[in-house]
Amino acid sequence: MNQIVVLNAGGQYCHLIARRIRELGVHAVVADVHRPASELRGARGIIVSGGPASVTEPTSPSVDPAIYDLGVPILGICYGHQLLARDLAGRVEPGTTKEYGHAALHAGEGQLFRGVPTRQFTVWMSHGDTVVDVPPGFVITGETDDCKVAAMEHAGRRLFGLQFHPEVVHTEHGTEIYRSFVFDVCGCRPDWDPRARVEQVVADIRRVAGDRKVFFLISGGVDSTVAFSLCARALGPERVLGLYVDTGFMRDGDAEAMQYLQSAVGARAVRLADRSADFFGRLRGVTHPEDKRAIIGETFVAVQEDEFARLGLARDEWLLGQGTIYPDTIESGGARHAAKIKTHHNRVERIQALIEAGRVIEPLVDFYKDEVRVLGEELGLPHDVVWRHPFPGPGLAVRCLAAEAHAAAEPATLLPEGVEGWVVPVRTVGVQGDERSYSRLLAVAGLGDAEAAGALARRVTNEHRAINRVAVVVFQRAAFGRLAIHPATLTRERIALLRGADALVTRLVRARGVYDAIWQMPVAMLPLGAAAGRETVVLRPVNSRDGMTADFARLPAPVMTELARALGELDRVDAVLYDVTNKPPATIELE
Ligand code: XMP
Repeated sequence: MNQIVVLNAGGQYCHLIARRIRELGVHAVVADVHRPASELRGARGIIVSGGPASVTEPTSPSVDPAIYDLGVPILGICYGHQLLARDLAGRVEPGTTKEYGHAALHAGEGQLFRGVPTRQFTVWMSHGDTVVDVPPGFVITGETDDCKVAAMEHAGRRLFGLQFHPEVVHTEHGTEIYRSFVFDVCGCRPDWDPRARVEQVVADIRRVAGDRKVFFLISGGVDSTVAFSLCARALGPERVLGLYVDTGFMRDGDAEAMQYLQSAVGARAVRLADRSADFFGRLRGVTHPEDKRAIIGETFVAVQEDEFARLGLARDEWLLGQGTIYPDTIESGGARHAAKIKTHHNRVERIQALIEAGRVIEPLVDFYKDEVRVLGEELGLPHDVVWRHPFPGPGLAVRCLAAEAHAAAEPATLLPEGVEGWVVPVRTVGVQGDERSYSRLLAVAGLGDAEAAGALARRVTNEHRAINRVAVVVFQRAAFGRLAIHPATLTRERIALLRGADALVTRLVRARGVYDAIWQMPVAMLPLGAAAGRETVVLRPVNSRDGMTADFARLPAPVMTELARALGELDRVDAVLYDVTNKPPATIELE
């Protein structure tokens, strides 16, 4: 098995690590931390990564201790580094404070640093506990001013520990470190290429489907389009049916992918159902984001069953196809330790039950987003379909915030001189310390450039747990401080305004040549205005590798000015905000 297994003890880092290794051309998979050693014998290398727990507590996630005796190279990162120290009779001390951020590493002669051209470089730290004594036989191979055992190794047993995170972009030479581990230590060959996987995926679909057919709900997004195309290629147009469900919460242009599929696969295999009345009906008066998500997920299942009956399809003959991709799945065990940030529509209870009953096919579960795009290109899908920005399954419903009561924005204290700020009385979702947060948004004005605003966002969200998102006011029709939140729910009228704003932003950003430089750009709406029925638009451009962490994107100032002006001209828009928060602490979508 020319493969690296990343054991996940919770947290978000495992997928970043697996991505980095796949970029080196080596297949890496994520598995639960408890995976028995007997099942890991064939791996070329094991990486143990982890999250917010403390190895000094007896209930914290642990590995099967027999993995240390497999003779397979092991690299522990952060929590995994501490586990290694604890399990092999070193010493870990609980931290009283957290070391978080950049640090200068002084690297020694460690095997993992052989490809790094310098002995001192910047690394990214995020930990509370620290290794104070290395286990017998280990040597310290790197330290920082605040961390004496930032890197350690036992060259003979091929065991390595790093306190810092080589997988994040803030760590210099992370690629060289992984390269040394994967090629020099583990002896892997670079043979992972998603392009070459098309035929294997097609064969897998045929094997899983047997003589059954596959029914898909397609959304116009990249994942469902690629997954459906693969099933069509594997089974032929007579044995697939793609139903494009108009939920009422789609983007402008989503139906184009459906038209493309109709021309490529055949009109009979791709149909449309307008079910927006069901979705709006079930969501009437619902304000809480997780309630919306659960209702939308359940409605998708109900609609699917309904359409099945309407089309007269026999249940036993059909599998349900989904475009679920690898990071959506996190193995059952991984999810045990990772806090729930958001419920994805394709993992609600009824779908889980179908999965357990073997009635679901998900051809993309082994792939990350950018690999899915590579597959899409390999299948010959049009560039604009393959490179569309990701769009959440619940669609515009989770970008259109609701409110139950009237509440005024409050002037914020504790801001630097000359900066004005208001705590907006809506809550948005964030991820702080690997856990979900649901906190206030701070709007600021008078800051100058996006860099200064981004720095302020980092500081404010670090110091004040009650704030998880910061946005700059880029347009205000009336003085921002006079705006208030007004009661509002999900209505067709509000969604139409948001869809128009989203389409306008997409058009302008494409025309100015920045669309392909941004990973995703949600456009959201708050019922914040000078009177009931008036709105604030929030722009949320981000750059990301896979959506799990993200930096807010710096748009060229003239483009932002143009967007703010154009959105300000829309009827009923009183203000425009530019979200300058990274993920963490804010998630990409507001809900
Ligand atoms: P968050 O908001 O969690 O989003 O930072 C990360 C990425 O996931 C997308 N997203 C979803 N995609 N179903 C999806 O298919 C969902 O329910 C869902 N919620 C968020 C989001 O657009 C971003 O790309």
